Amino acid sequence: MSLWHKDPVPDLNEQIIWLTGASSGIGEALTKALADRCLHLYISARSRDKLETLAESASNITVLPADITDPESLQQAAEKIHATSGRLDTLIANAGTCEYVDALQLDPDLFRRVHETNFMGMVNTVAAAIPLLQRSRRGYIAGVSSSVTFLAMPRAQAYGSSKAAVTHFLEAMKADLMPVGIDVSVISPGFVRTPLTDVNDFPMPMLISPEQAAGAIIQGLQKRPWQIAFPKRFTFLLSLLGHLPAPLRHRVTSAMSRTREQETVRENHS
Ligand SMILES: NC(=O)c1ccc[n+]([C@@H]2O[C@H](COP(=O)([O-])OP(=O)(O)OC[C@H]3O[C@@H](n4cnc5c(N)ncnc54)[C@H](OP(=O)(O)O)[C@@H]3O)[C@@H](O)[C@H]2O)c1
Repeated sequence: MSLWHKDPVPDLNEQIIWLTGASSGIGEALTKALADRCLHLYISARSRDKLETLAESASNITVLPADITDPESLQQAAEKIHATSGRLDTLIANAGTCEYVDALQLDPDLFRRVHETNFMGMVNTVAAAIPLLQRSRRGYIAGVSSSVTFLAMPRAQAYGSSKAAVTHFLEAMKADLMPVGIDVSVISPGFVRTPLTDVNDFPMPMLISPEQAAGAIIQGLQKRPWQIAFPKRFTFLLSLLGHLPAPLRHRVTSAMSRTREQETVRENHS
């Protein structure tokens, strides 16, 4: 296959899609928005009950409970897709987690947990999907990273580094998969109101709803650009800040740090 000639992107209504992280937040909104628009939707997460409730809303949803940190459970899910549909057109690898860091009391176990889910979970998911995507006329991997990769933010050492690894992994995969006709996009959301961000105790500028996020992702899925970043104004500003000269950039991010504040609280309690 030529590097430059590609079959047109198939319509969503011809596509078999596998979505991870479907039980809540962005994935739940995507499930509701995609079911009506695609040929068949396979949904995964650990919470079987939530997936089953979601699947009641449409006849073309199949529930495939899986833990993305467990390659065996993803393999079993992939085998079910193979047995039922014979191929996969689009993988939306959305499942992920977030934990914030105290820079003065680094906890390596926290880093291991976040990387195991966000980075190794992405690798495990893509590994399980590749043989199925190769059976599609024009397979597609859309992996959810984060706009945090545009600017190294305070307390996001574990989350940000796991998502930076995801973005790099996907870009390198794109280099290898383009010649075999599989497209790859990285999805980089700004702040979206979900259970993952409901616990945040800091301002979240330009926060959008999961339904808005799902709408932006579906628009992207139909064009398959390398980067699907939204909301546009927020991600543009963040990437602008990320391109400031380092001394300026570090002033901006350290102004957002709460390390001193945490230190004071600790001193007051000791
Ligand atoms: N919300 C934001 O502002 C924002 C911004 C940038 C990027 N993102 C990214 O967007 C994605 C979705 O996040 P969200 O905000 O929608 O969070 P959420 O509401 O917490 O949803 C996370 C989803 O991932 C699943 N999940 C977590 N660990 C898993 C595991 N080990 N195996 C299988 N599934 C697992 C959860 O299901 P179970 O618990 O049932 O397994 C759930 O369905 C994540 O990758 C997140 O990093 C979110």
